[in-house]
Amino acid sequence: MAEIGLIGLGTMGAALALNIADNGFDIAVWNRTPSVTKEFHQTAAELAARITPTYSLEELVLAISVPRTIILMVPAGDAVDQQIAALRPLLGPDDLIIDAGNANFHDTNRRAAEATGPFLGIGVSGGEEGARHGPSIMGGGPRQHWDRVAHILGAISAKHDGSPCATWMGDGGAGHFVKAVHNGIEYADMQMIAEAYGIMRDGLGMEAGEIGAVFDRWNKGPLQSYLIEISGHVAAATDPATGKPLLDLIVDSAGQKGTGRWTVIEAQHLGTPIPAIEAAVAARNLSARRKERATGEAIFGTGRVGVDVQVATLEQALIAGKIMCYAQGFTMMAQASREFGWSLPLPEIAAVWRAGCIIRSTMLNDMAHALSDDPDRNLMFAPTFRGLVSDSIGGLRETVAAASLSGLPVPALASGLSYFDTMRQSRGTANMIQGQRDYFGLHGFERLDRDDKDHHGPWSGGTA
Ligand code: 6PG
Repeated sequence: MAEIGLIGLGTMGAALALNIADNGFDIAVWNRTPSVTKEFHQTAAELAARITPTYSLEELVLAISVPRTIILMVPAGDAVDQQIAALRPLLGPDDLIIDAGNANFHDTNRRAAEATGPFLGIGVSGGEEGARHGPSIMGGGPRQHWDRVAHILGAISAKHDGSPCATWMGDGGAGHFVKAVHNGIEYADMQMIAEAYGIMRDGLGMEAGEIGAVFDRWNKGPLQSYLIEISGHVAAATDPATGKPLLDLIVDSAGQKGTGRWTVIEAQHLGTPIPAIEAAVAARNLSARRKERATGEAIFGTGRVGVDVQVATLEQALIAGKIMCYAQGFTMMAQASREFGWSLPLPEIAAVWRAGCIIRSTMLNDMAHALSDDPDRNLMFAPTFRGLVSDSIGGLRETVAAASLSGLPVPALASGLSYFDTMRQSRGTANMIQGQRDYFGLHGFERLDRDDKDHHGPWSGGTA
């Protein structure tokens, strides 16, 4: 009998099923299209012995030992609801369904509430490679169900210094929520790297290959991360058909499945600012408006002039920018934790992101330690990061200033800088906004020199 089942043999499902078999668990699999299941089994080589291909849901269920665990790896959205509706009637009362797709956490909350049997929603990060050889896993749902499968999920997850990158985040949609924030940070990290690339390409006139070498170098320093590493590989790649740098041939319009957008929408609902992530999502949307951008260039020209900034300064800019976007992401999770009655384990979240996932980086190790000291403190105020922020913020400022003077857009980096400058001013400028609100709408304001609230200005009613 198989110890676990899996439905959905797309890229991620197939990779996860092989990973499970590779870790010594017998697994039964089913896919809507029988030929996919057959081919998957035939190509599983030495792992085929641990895999039971099945050709109906009934057959799948009968192939798994009781109490059953079945992982769904089907496209997020309606397909998950349909799959649960088809599967649940075939299951016993203790059989567990795990949705391991990229679900919107609100859907996971709803599915958890509607579930007529055990249900978990888990976020899985790491792309195909991660799914096959060790992803980062963020679990959500009743703790006792997580505990039932923790040995399997821990075994198949990535390891950081031997510790499994698989953690229970909380009830309901907590796991998928953490995965969404992961993706929001992913968007901001990618956007900042793309902005640094743009400065090198358009401001410093560097070739893709040279830029790739810079990323390779950065990957040996404080910026060491999967995203910097693959950026180096992407920049260095040559198109076999033309012999040109492939990066120069890729259309500059970024796709998205929506997870970054969900994070931004949720941040707005929570009233928790994540401006660098918002800037990154907006930049992706603007990237898709190619025709409109071409019209803009035809009317105004790019206005670009060579940029006065050193490559070493760009590295500092990315270090500071990265800290800002993580500070925002973790602050958002702290707020969500309070709002939704979760106890999101922030240090463990940083810890499970250290390996397997797309945003894995050396810096996350320091973040895990900083958050262990005080999970409620803004990450950039943590003693470990104060020095790094102080040392690198000048580079971010210089980069943003130089890029702006050269007509190069740096929305995420600029937003990271403004976030820093905002968060170190005890006296901001919203007193003007409060004055305006009171002027036109009698909304009232507090005064610095008095304790009582609800003051109004001499303009009373907007006429003075
Ligand atoms: C991961 C990735 C993964 C996927 C995203 C990409 O953590 O493994 O985030 O989930 O690549 O869906 O999202 P976009 O299509 O929105 O860029």
